[in-house]
Amino acid sequence: MKAALFDMDGVLCNTQEYHNACYAEIAKKNYNITLDSSIEDKLKGVLRNEGAKIFCKAVGIRPNKENIKYISTLKNNLYLKKIEENKDSLLSKGTIDLLQKLKNNNVKVALVSASANAKTIIKITNIEKYFDYVVDAKNIKKGKPNPAIFLEAAANLAIKPSDCVVYEDAINGIQAANDCDMYSIAVNVDFNKTTFTYSKKIADRYVKSLDDPLCYKGLYENLFEKADNCSLFIFDAGNVVIENIHCFNGIFDQYNFTTDQKSEFIKDFNFYTAPLMDGNISTEFFLNHVNKNLNLNISGDPFYNYFNPVFNVKIINLIKKLKENGKRVVLGSNTFAPHTKKMKEMGLFDLFDSVYVSNEIHHYKPNPSFFRYILEKENTEANKAYFIDDISENIASAASLNINTLHYVNDDKNTKLKKAFTKFI
Ligand code: G6P
Ligand code: MG
Repeated sequence: MKAALFDMDGVLCNTQEYHNACYAEIAKKNYNITLDSSIEDKLKGVLRNEGAKIFCKAVGIRPNKENIKYISTLKNNLYLKKIEENKDSLLSKGTIDLLQKLKNNNVKVALVSASANAKTIIKITNIEKYFDYVVDAKNIKKGKPNPAIFLEAAANLAIKPSDCVVYEDAINGIQAANDCDMYSIAVNVDFNKTTFTYSKKIADRYVKSLDDPLCYKGLYENLFEKADNCSLFIFDAGNVVIENIHCFNGIFDQYNFTTDQKSEFIKDFNFYTAPLMDGNISTEFFLNHVNKNLNLNISGDPFYNYFNPVFNVKIINLIKKLKENGKRVVLGSNTFAPHTKKMKEMGLFDLFDSVYVSNEIHHYKPNPSFFRYILEKENTEANKAYFIDDISENIASAASLNINTLHYVNDDKNTKLKKAFTKFI
């Protein structure tokens, strides 16, 4: 992940409670109505006028232009008064530390708020300097759950949506993040209270406040843990312990695949990846299917023949050092039978105290059950385990269980390795 997109009200600042208090106060004083607290979820993340409209309906007045304007103004004046009275205590627990940590590690940071008061509030709370970009009510026409507000931030930071992490307290905001393929972290959300129901997953992670390490653990490439206090080390195979792992091109060349056949083959492979990896279907089954589907005549074991990896010496040396230091070192790989066979033959398994390959243990990454299985077999607590992998989803999954992680990817991957393992290298 390369960018962090923060909601303001109820996430960076405790200002959502003042929005709620204003609406409740107006309802009571002007309409003698006690607002049901379930309305609070609906009022989060929406634009001011939209909020006023929801309020009008709740207190039984017509949501016409005049009433919306009247309520908006009344509410905002009251809100600004509360903000002024509480200006020294508007930041949530953990806000500064998290923003500083992200900045120190070159993560892009944006504020994505539907509030027209957002710029004022980040100024008076002194956090303005942390943001590379700010989207507020002035830039947008539609509030959350419309994803436009997040897409605008990503576009301006020049980061693709799938590399963005969204921090949100509003179901509306989490839904918007999910809808544009961003990683979502629900901050201080009581899902039991909510009146919303969604059939798909709600958030990728849940934290009580921004001082929870799950706000960053395993999410940003440059933010990794030191390996000093760990006792168990789990290494991924492909692109970590071994390199040159791609076997498709060999197969494509031997059978003279056309461009269409190549893309169809890859599509099929992706479709069958899960059952291939967890050992539920064999490569023979997959190749039979491909032969029929693409009208080919692939025979033998091309996944074995064209898989000719080489050792990554830097990692091999590290494994040796860890073992010299009395650490337990295991392999944790998503793979299937022909590759398992080749890896065994090349002596890769001999480097490890134990080997966990998905097609034999019937669990595969990023499913948390893969990590739980290994931790249980190794009788090790998550915070004493260290996991190294090149795929961000796997890292995020391990980290969400509180396993220490290093995302071994990009040109500076060996520099990161040195920093995390100084004690051993
Ligand atoms: C955020 C809050 C809403 C609020 C809206 C407009 O989305 O979650 O509760 O109504 O901003 O705020 P504003 O400060 O522009 O009135
Ligand atoms: Mg919010």
